[in-house]
Amino acid sequence: MKAKRIQTSAGSFPKFPLHQGLAALPKKEWQVLCGDRNHWRVGYFSPPQKKASELTFLEKHTCVELFLLLSGSITLVLDDGHGEYELRLVPMQPVMVSGWHAGYCPKGPHTGVALVVERDQFSTIYRGRP
Ligand SMILES: [Fe+2]
Repeated sequence: MKAKRIQTSAGSFPKFPLHQGLAALPKKEWQVLCGDRNHWRVGYFSPPQKKASELTFLEKHTCVELFLLLSGSITLVLDDGHGEYELRLVPMQPVMVSGWHAGYCPKGPHTGVALVVERDQFSTIYRGRP
């Protein structure tokens, strides 16, 4: 994959009902659930890859991003500028990410789900992996 940049603009989340549970689709890599315009948005991250070698790119945003493992297992592949390393997410232990990142589910496609919190507007760059 060649490097590319994607812009996410304000209001980058679907309409959602108040004061009731939000619908979430199963087995989807990334789905934005809700947000607060010009401030934050929240989504579920559940990658289909089951090992790091299946990841073809890493991404990096112009904002920090919080990951909180909700169920199953997810391992993040991170690069803060000193080479790639892996970080296994732990339930109830939020992790803030600012550098290059991607993730996989070591127990099989979509077997882990993490809550992600990020800004409502930012840009993302992608870089291919060897
Ligand atoms: Fe991200």
